[in-house]
Amino acid sequence: MFTELTEAKKNLQKKGFLDMEVDVRLDLFAEIERLKKEKNAIILAHYYQEPDIQDVADYIGDSLGLSQQAAKTDADIIVFAGVHFMAETAKILSPQKKVLLPDLKAGCSLADSAPPELFARFKAQYPDHLVISYINCSAGIKALSDIICTSSNAEKIIEAVPKDQPIIFAPDRNLGSYLVKKTGRDMVLWNGACMVHEIFSLEKITKLKVRHPNAKIIAHPECEAPVLAIADFIGSTTGLLKFTQRDDAKEYIVVTETGILHQMQKENPDKTFIPAPPNNACACNDCPHMKLNTLEKLYLCMEYEQPEITMDEQLRIAAKRPIDRMLEISAQAGL
Ligand code: 13P
Ligand code: SF4
Repeated sequence: MFTELTEAKKNLQKKGFLDMEVDVRLDLFAEIERLKKEKNAIILAHYYQEPDIQDVADYIGDSLGLSQQAAKTDADIIVFAGVHFMAETAKILSPQKKVLLPDLKAGCSLADSAPPELFARFKAQYPDHLVISYINCSAGIKALSDIICTSSNAEKIIEAVPKDQPIIFAPDRNLGSYLVKKTGRDMVLWNGACMVHEIFSLEKITKLKVRHPNAKIIAHPECEAPVLAIADFIGSTTGLLKFTQRDDAKEYIVVTETGILHQMQKENPDKTFIPAPPNNACACNDCPHMKLNTLEKLYLCMEYEQPEITMDEQLRIAAKRPIDRMLEISAQAGL
């Protein structure tokens, strides 16, 4: 066991997680509960995590809810069941806490589509512009931004900026275009996108709708404009979930990552949720980054307190300012 741990720690950076055997007879749910109590740890999980992880989490939410929880928790350890930029945001907000991510390689195609060096050059072309960045970006991009937003508060954040102030919106061009239409603000957009939300097939969704004429189409704003154009409701993951709770339809075609269906089904046992199909035969509506986290990796990271998120203090301070601004505006708007 000792040799295995030493070996796993040595390989941690290369592999991204503690690659160790977990006894299949172990009740991982009970073990994780024990570790939470022993270590005063809290598990924050995004809706795109696998169902077992959602079921052991203390809080499940969208990016805004998760950052609000990370800012206010009194736990000593935050175990972040999500992707790297989310765990990094938790560390930025709560530097005195140990922040663990079950697999350090759980990245994000959208965050990767905006390298800070290139973005700094892009920003330099628009010296009068204020930078609003979607939270799905690296700490480097956050440090170059004036205000952060998520899909649930983006409209309010834009509305809080004076009308004559020009804006750069980064990194998601789909969310950006949607917000340009919603707010009437002519923003300069960075050309990034999420690999999961861009893969949905308009043709297959339309065919599904023909077979399920009473189903409502609900979509995340990271989807492309033609998909959003046929949606009955557009919102963040929490927004979509809440809509299914208050709406009276019985069937929904859900155009976002499949993980959200677990909570939708739990909250609405009598309703039917159909995952929107991608434009090919693979399960590409599962986020490959989110799904790198498993219950085994979650257990191992809590047991050995690794992998841990660490970051440069100057970068952390610079990245915190626009997140604080977002949290302030959100609180004022009652979000
Ligand atoms: P929200 O949960 O904030 O809607 O974000 C969706 C997403 O793509 C997270 O990676
Ligand atoms: Fe990133 Fe898209 Fe995965 Fe969300 S679903 S983590 S935006 S790649």
